[in-house]
Amino acid sequence: MNKNFEFFMPVKIYFEAGASKKAGQYIKGKKVLIISDPFLYHSGIAGQIGESMRGKEVVYFSDVEPNPSCESVDQAALLAREMQADCIVGLGGGSALDISKMVSCLTTNEGSIYDYYVGGSRSLSNRSTTLICIPTTAGTGSEVTNVGVFTNKKAGIKMPMVSNEFWPDYAIIDSVLTYTLPQVMTATTGMDAFCHAIEAYWNKNSQPMCDMLAMGAMKQILSNIESAYREPSDKEARSAMVCASLIAGIAFSQTRTTGIHALSFPLTAEFGASHGTACAITLPAFIKISSQQAGEKMITLIRYLGFETVEEFADAVEQLMQSMKMPTRLREIGVKESDIEHIAEVGLNAAIIQLTPAVMNKETVSSLLKSIL
Ligand SMILES: [Fe+2]
Repeated sequence: MNKNFEFFMPVKIYFEAGASKKAGQYIKGKKVLIISDPFLYHSGIAGQIGESMRGKEVVYFSDVEPNPSCESVDQAALLAREMQADCIVGLGGGSALDISKMVSCLTTNEGSIYDYYVGGSRSLSNRSTTLICIPTTAGTGSEVTNVGVFTNKKAGIKMPMVSNEFWPDYAIIDSVLTYTLPQVMTATTGMDAFCHAIEAYWNKNSQPMCDMLAMGAMKQILSNIESAYREPSDKEARSAMVCASLIAGIAFSQTRTTGIHALSFPLTAEFGASHGTACAITLPAFIKISSQQAGEKMITLIRYLGFETVEEFADAVEQLMQSMKMPTRLREIGVKESDIEHIAEVGLNAAIIQLTPAVMNKETVSSLLKSIL
């Protein structure tokens, strides 16, 4: 018998090649702030989307950095308040989308992100701006979640924040935006999406609807990621990847993630690894221990994906990463044996680590990290 569950996902999704140029039709207000990274701004991609919003006043904030800092959020929020934005468009990977979530709230919530984020005493409420998220990678899933991840650079802490005010109104999924993704980003963001799916599947909060979504997303990623990596203009593979990333995002929006994402926070904040790399690097090791508490589910999954054993599945994932020139050992991203205990401690501070289907404490996490040093 299935266990009881809830499912809440209020984001309206538009999935169509070229859909980003139709974003204007979903905006009721007149003042739009488009938030992107410098590349999307200078390459003209943000401008093309802005120009398609006829009759709107469009302003651009293009200083989004990887692992967005609280300072960047406050800077963008200042701009949004000054122009009295009534619509915030997040365009990019997870960083731009996460900033857009917080900025869309700070137009009507006073103060700084620090008042609401880790250690802050206030709660976000009553967002009045329309929030549109347009992913340009096939990986983040942020367009369909109520989670934002921000970095407190002063304290060196990167942590997720969950708020019901973070649900976007619209997610516009346009595979055309991914045709020019560099190979390294196709690989790392695609593997991030795979982690979202498997972490939703083996999660202690897992539920039947998300299991189905996650299994489908994993199969679709395994079938398409190499084609998208080797042949960037393969429209079918690109479309399949953005779809799988979207579905994986919906799955983990209900369950949250697990140890892979918990350990990725210190690996990005302190060792400069990209989010996808920092997640995928521990993926094979987590697959190997997942049978501890999710044995039956893992058998169902590996058979569905066409493997005989969990070890065979973990090895295949590792080989896939190597074939796309992704690091599979912590040393490759600058981690030393003396760093292991600290990484384990920081990872254990993220509550999601306890959603992993295995015992997670300083000893077990350190030993998992040592196994991939
Ligand atoms: Fe992720």
